[in-house]
Amino acid sequence: MRALGLALVLCAALGGRARADRAAYVGSAACGACHAAELAAWQASAHARAGQAVVRAPRRCLACHGTGDAPAGAAYWAEVGCEACHGPGAAYAADDLMRDRGLVRRLGLRDLAAPAGRAAVCAGCHRDGAGTRLMPLTPAELARPVHPVTARVQP
Ligand code: HEC
Ligand code: HEC
Ligand code: HEC
Ligand code: HEC
Repeated sequence: MRALGLALVLCAALGGRARADRAAYVGSAACGACHAAELAAWQASAHARAGQAVVRAPRRCLACHGTGDAPAGAAYWAEVGCEACHGPGAAYAADDLMRDRGLVRRLGLRDLAAPAGRAAVCAGCHRDGAGTRLMPLTPAELARPVHPVTARVQP
């Protein structure tokens, strides 16, 4: 599985951009198959409903209300899914890989524990929008868990 994961990373790096980009994502349901508590908490959140605010919206809206490569490419899901924050998961979302913290970081699982790293990911969408009502998150909002951090997957 490690070899497969690394091969996927190479494909993502070397392959044609559009096809490889879609292949880099597994989707929130696939993450949730192993992380049921996080899936349930996320489903109850505004991020899971973010697509509803922009039904039939142009790609520039789905850059923040979706998951994928918008606005440069397509949005593959009309939701702020797991991978919008944690990073595209095809390369790291396998059971044996996920247990190796150093390796999954190198395969694209973002470090959201460090405040600076987390702030940078959130600020990709939560930022001042010229002429809009968009606001950056306050430090208190940033520090609050976006979904409860619960028990680890059992070995
Ligand atoms: C096949 C099962 C499986 C799938 C699918 C899976 N994970 Fe995991 N995940 C695990 C296991 C096992 C761990 C390690 C738990 C531990 O360390 O006790 C883990 C750990 C994590 C961690 C914590 C890592 C750390 O270093 O703190 C995050 C975040 C995470 N997974 C996110 C995701 C996301 C996002 C997806 C979908 C792209 C995903 N996982 C898909 C099994 C899975
Ligand atoms: C730069 C990222 C970004 C872009 C681009 C963006 N939005 Fe948003 N939008 C957000 C964020 C973040 C929120 C929620 C927090 C806030 O208001 O600051 C939000 C909130 C909303 C809400 C309120 C949701 C609710 O349930 O109350 C609507 C409606 C909305 N956006 C529509 C749109 C439409 C339509 C477009 C495209 C024209 C768009 N947004 C583009 C980031 C963005
Ligand atoms: C809006 C951003 C965001 C979304 C969407 C999101 N997460 Fe997270 N996730 C975080 C942050 C932030 C943390 C906390 C990291 C830390 O403090 O170590 C986290 C932590 C985790 C952890 C580690 C939990 C632990 O015990 O340490 C797992 C597993 C996880 N998320 C899975 C998921 C899954 C599965 C989904 C989708 C169903 C998801 N996340 C959606 C931001 C997000
Ligand atoms: C891909 C873009 C994106 C990312 C990344 C993102 N958000 Fe959001 N967030 C949104 C959008 C869009 C909404 C509004 C959804 C709606 O109401 O329709 C939102 C809503 C919220 C809300 C309001 C929830 C509510 O119940 O009113 C909070 C708080 C929030 N996000 C925190 C965070 C934090 C913290 C992070 C980083 C760990 C983060 N978000 C990352 C796009 C994003």
